[in-house]
Amino acid sequence: MNQDDDLFLKAYLEDRQGIVEEALQRYLPENDIPAEIYEAVRYSVFNGGKRIRPILCLAAAEAVGGDLVPAIPVACALELIHAYSLIHDDLPAMDNDDFRRGKPTCHKVFGEGMAILAGDALLTEAFSLLSRAEKVMFSAERRLAVIQEIAHAAGIGGMVGGQALDVLSEKTGADEKTLEEIHRRKTGALIVAAVRSGALIFNPGKDKIQALTEYGMHVGQAFQIADDILNVEGDSGLMGKQTGSDAARNKITYPSLLGIQTAKEKLAGHVEVARASLAGFDERAMPLVVIARYVMERKS
Ligand code: IPE
Ligand code: IPE
Ligand code: MG
Ligand code: MG
Repeated sequence: MNQDDDLFLKAYLEDRQGIVEEALQRYLPENDIPAEIYEAVRYSVFNGGKRIRPILCLAAAEAVGGDLVPAIPVACALELIHAYSLIHDDLPAMDNDDFRRGKPTCHKVFGEGMAILAGDALLTEAFSLLSRAEKVMFSAERRLAVIQEIAHAAGIGGMVGGQALDVLSEKTGADEKTLEEIHRRKTGALIVAAVRSGALIFNPGKDKIQALTEYGMHVGQAFQIADDILNVEGDSGLMGKQTGSDAARNKITYPSLLGIQTAKEKLAGHVEVARASLAGFDERAMPLVVIARYVMERKS
């Protein structure tokens, strides 16, 4: 990235992270009884996530000429779903990870029961937030389109199905086609939904939605390949989670299947296609363009 892009990206990410943090504080339910479940939820949301899905949602809204304000609750709902998916992903029955975002995982601190329930709560709160007219200030018709989009992406045809394939492939192994399918669903689906839902609020027309879908699919693949490469050669201090765990659990990943060099080439290819798919947009899509590069170059 040239220096101007770099400065723009840094300022952009910081600004949008600030908007998302502030809104998440407002949207999450107040502490009540039993305190443990509220604490487990807040512990897992306010712990230094990059907020890349909500930022993509806001950037897509901007790219189609929309206002940021109506997109904020949608962006936050995506982050709540993501936070739930990480809590469950780290459980002993799944990836059995002890660290997330630099801190002990939710089940390590609150126990498995509370961690399962914190995930359930976050998923449900996300849809409660999306359905509430006083929080989501755009038409009921657009709200329904957004809810359908996100529900489909988070559900069995999307993330949950992808996580299931991921768990099953630990035993059966996987070829490249299956691996792509796992990535497309476990990580790609929510990323595609992030850009599509940010745009769907403003009903920008089929061509724009199609181009953003293409962008999201390639950023999603790139994001998971980068995650798998970081699991091999990243700095666990910077990442806040353990490295080497994919190999230890026999996970099929691009680095394990094709080698690290080919994985890096695939990653760069997806970023190129993602950027090219934005050709029909004007300068308001600049944030999406630089975020695609960030996905490839990130260290955490
Ligand atoms: C990690 O997601 C899990 C994947 C789907 C690859 P992120 O890298 O976005 O994690 P946080 O939210 O910044 O911690
Ligand atoms: C996480 O994938 C995907 C979801 C939670 C949907 P990974 O298991 O590969 O991600 P990390 O490495 O634990 O963050
Ligand atoms: Mg996993
Ligand atoms: Mg994991």
